Amino acid sequence: MHEQAHMTKKIGRLVLFFFVMNIIILLLVPPSHTVSSGVSASTGTMKEGQEAEALLKWKDSLDIDPTHSLLSSWKLLPPRNSTSPLTNSSHLPKNSSSSSSLCNWIGIICNQLGSVMQINLTSSNLRGTLRNFTFSSFPNLYTFVLYNNSLYGNIPSHISNLSRLTYLDLGRNHLTGNIPPQIGLLTGLQYLYLGRNHFNGSIPHEIGMMESLEKFYARYNDLSGSIPASIGNLSKLITLSLGRNSISGSIPHEIGQLKSIRALNLYFNNLTGSIPASIGKLVSLTNLSLFGNNITGSIPLEMNNLTNLEYFQIFDNLLSGYLPENICLGGRLMWFIASYNNFRGSIPKSIKNCSTLVAVSLAENQLTGNISEELGVYPDLDYMDLSKNKFVGSLTGNWGQCSKLTMLSISNNKISGRLLPELGKATQLHALDLSSNLLAGKIPKEIGRLKFLYDLKLNNNRLSSEVPAEIGMLSDLEKLELAENKLSGPIPIDLEHCSKLLHINMRKNRLSGAVPFQMGNLLSLQNLDLGQNLLTGELPMELRYLHKLETLNLSHNKFSGTIPSTFKEMLSLTSVDISYNQLEGPLPSIKAFIVAPTEAFENNKALCGNNTGLESCPIPRNKNSNGVVAPVVISISGTLILFFIIVGILFICHKREKNMDEPEEAPPEIFFTTWNHDGKTVYEEIITATENFNSKYCIGMGGYGIVYKALLSTGQIVAVKKFHENESRIASQEAFTNEISVLTKARHRNIIKLHGFCSHARHSFLVYEFMEQGSLENILGDKVKAIEFEWFKRVNVVTGLANALSYLHHECSPAIIHRDISSNNVLLDAEYEAHLADFGTAKIMVAEPSSDWNSFAGTFGYAAPELAYTMRANEKCDVYSFGVVGLEVIMGKDPGDLISSLSSSSASSSSSSSQPIVHQILLGDVLDQRISPPMNQVAEKVFSIAKLAFACLQQNPQARPSMKEVSQILSAMVPSSSRVKEFGRGYNHFEREYMLSFCI
Ligand SMILES: *[C@@H]1O[C@H](CO)[C@@H](O)[C@H](O)[C@H]1NC(C)=O
Repeated sequence: MHEQAHMTKKIGRLVLFFFVMNIIILLLVPPSHTVSSGVSASTGTMKEGQEAEALLKWKDSLDIDPTHSLLSSWKLLPPRNSTSPLTNSSHLPKNSSSSSSLCNWIGIICNQLGSVMQINLTSSNLRGTLRNFTFSSFPNLYTFVLYNNSLYGNIPSHISNLSRLTYLDLGRNHLTGNIPPQIGLLTGLQYLYLGRNHFNGSIPHEIGMMESLEKFYARYNDLSGSIPASIGNLSKLITLSLGRNSISGSIPHEIGQLKSIRALNLYFNNLTGSIPASIGKLVSLTNLSLFGNNITGSIPLEMNNLTNLEYFQIFDNLLSGYLPENICLGGRLMWFIASYNNFRGSIPKSIKNCSTLVAVSLAENQLTGNISEELGVYPDLDYMDLSKNKFVGSLTGNWGQCSKLTMLSISNNKISGRLLPELGKATQLHALDLSSNLLAGKIPKEIGRLKFLYDLKLNNNRLSSEVPAEIGMLSDLEKLELAENKLSGPIPIDLEHCSKLLHINMRKNRLSGAVPFQMGNLLSLQNLDLGQNLLTGELPMELRYLHKLETLNLSHNKFSGTIPSTFKEMLSLTSVDISYNQLEGPLPSIKAFIVAPTEAFENNKALCGNNTGLESCPIPRNKNSNGVVAPVVISISGTLILFFIIVGILFICHKREKNMDEPEEAPPEIFFTTWNHDGKTVYEEIITATENFNSKYCIGMGGYGIVYKALLSTGQIVAVKKFHENESRIASQEAFTNEISVLTKARHRNIIKLHGFCSHARHSFLVYEFMEQGSLENILGDKVKAIEFEWFKRVNVVTGLANALSYLHHECSPAIIHRDISSNNVLLDAEYEAHLADFGTAKIMVAEPSSDWNSFAGTFGYAAPELAYTMRANEKCDVYSFGVVGLEVIMGKDPGDLISSLSSSSASSSSSSSQPIVHQILLGDVLDQRISPPMNQVAEKVFSIAKLAFACLQQNPQARPSMKEVSQILSAMVPSSSRVKEFGRGYNHFEREYMLSFCI
């Protein structure tokens, strides 16, 4: 934030400078009309001509369809009389000349003399290289911004011809190669942004010649080699950002000459060696981020001179010795992250009164000392991780005064004493981990006040007495770890209210009484471990409802009676242990019991049934026999149905295979747009790579075809969609041709790229770029993948989808409507960039936008409500579906229930009054709970997406925004994944106050 404000100020000054210069020039030029305008016009147009030609030449070299591009304004008027546009334009009347002047072209700003001063083409979907950019034609260029496009190839060395350049931003493209040494000739350059490309090689030592450089960003590239010592010459450098590369060697001691530096970010590289003592000279330093390297040695004592640090992040290194004592002497430290090193000694003295602290992690070191004496009260503290050290002391009431604390972990230390009731005052706690310490006494009932708690770990301590019923007030609780204590008494019935519980572990305590039948209400439960307690009674049959339960351990208790046969409904169960009880009778007939090892049943009274270690049960001869047989029959038929479904799927894939073997009547029509190979070769390669469309390469199924993954001999992986043939032949043929006609027209970084197709009487297939992460729907539906799908990635996906739709609706001519936007049709590549796919039902708007379609396209749940009573599809239907997908990404699940409850409450109230009803919900209440909430700017973006999504979901199609508006709002927000990423392991901060107000 600070840096941004600073930059804005700088740019402001620059603009002001030009403004003043222009006035001076105007004043200096004599008022004689003919002379002055003649002179300035001719030099102006001369340059303008050269510059215009250079820009047009470059534009022509780009791989874009110029009519669809933002650059469509880049054209000259047709010449009159003369062949040269230069002489021609000077004869034109001033007005018409200026309307065709390059100074009016999108992205171009000229100085008073009509020469190009700024080129800013941020996020303009440019695809191509800089090879044809004639840098020498722009002697007056100050600012050159090509941020967030798809440029590839090298930076040409003649970029050094831009002799006046002060601001160069090539960030977020696909540029490769070395950073050319000639860049060092740009001695006026103040800002150099090269981040998020694929630059490799080392940083040229010529960088040291750029004496004006203030900010240098090259993070997220493939740079290697060491940091050149010449970097020490950059006495004006304020920010050096080289994180996420493969830079090796040690940090040069010349770094100590960077006397203006405030942010030194070298995180996630392969740096070795120790931190140079000269770092102590960088007294302006506020942000030092060296995490994720292999830096060794101890922190130099000179570091104690750096008292103004706000961010000190050195986690994940091999550092040893002591932490710097004065780290918070200046009273500014907010982030103090030194985890995963080998530090010893105690917490620095200056930390005790460091009231600015926001996040602290000292986890996994060898630190000692008494935390009750060395820590104070931190009003802004959000995150504190002291786990895996050798701290002693007890928990004090101070923790209750850290009112913003969301995460507290002191696990694996030697903390003793009791859990104080004051802990209940830290009401923002989301995660509390005090496991593996020496805590004694009872769990205070005040724990029930921690209403946001989702992760509570108190296992492996000496806690005694009963589990308080107040735990039942923790309605967000997902993990409850109380194992290995001395807890006694019953399992509290109130636990049934913790309906989000996934994981309960109370193993190795002294719990007694029966398992409350109410535990059957914990429908999300996946793991239940009650082993090694003193529990008695029969197993409640209500546990049958735990359909998601995967592991069940009831061993070493005193359970008696039979196992309810209804337990066979626990179909997710994979691991079961009921050994050392008094159980008898037949085992439930599900796989978990059948395949369990014998030990899982040993030492019981008389168990029998389908398990190799047990006797089979005697066949009852009385009338009860029906009661036993019936469930078995049902279960077998259930299995058979499943079997047929699986066989059916395999059969579908196999059938395609068989057809392939039959001789073909006519040669297939093959067309591959993007490969230089001859089409036939690629065609044969695909057949070979998929072994004639063998089902084992099947990666997905759509309405009109099956998708296969094919690895070509070039090493390239492609996705092949083979369209259904027989039954739905006509519809599928239509989808096939539709998809080709759209995808050959639409080229955008967020639209799936069609490599080619093969059309034949027998089979038709399309070949696309392969998307590593699969569909958005898959990711959101997968527990593990959803967690990796962090907020900034989600923001990026929604923005990408908005850009794609804006392009289809507003930049394609005629416009294209997708008509089936859903999370299943948004695919993500390895970088989690969204690519819109499945254009089978898309419509090219050749006719009036409101003309009738007579077939319904779309996916239930995503289709706009008006489609229920009119078959008129226009772009507003896509806008609605986009809103559904946007909400789905934020909520991590189908937003259908939320949308229908909101729209039904609107409908019922609008009948009584004409005022639209304003809904208000807290963003925090709808966010996907599987990942920690977003923080800072990312949180703001999530909030904007939520607001936009609700705007898109309005019942009245006309009230919905256009995709262009949505895309502009989303793209205007600068990407800022850095905070979340840079922290690495696990810290997050989220303002719960985001309130959404909207009408739908
Ligand atoms: C640190 O060194 C280890 C062992 O040589 C290596 O496996 C690891 O990749 C290195 N890590 C970094 C960040 O360079």
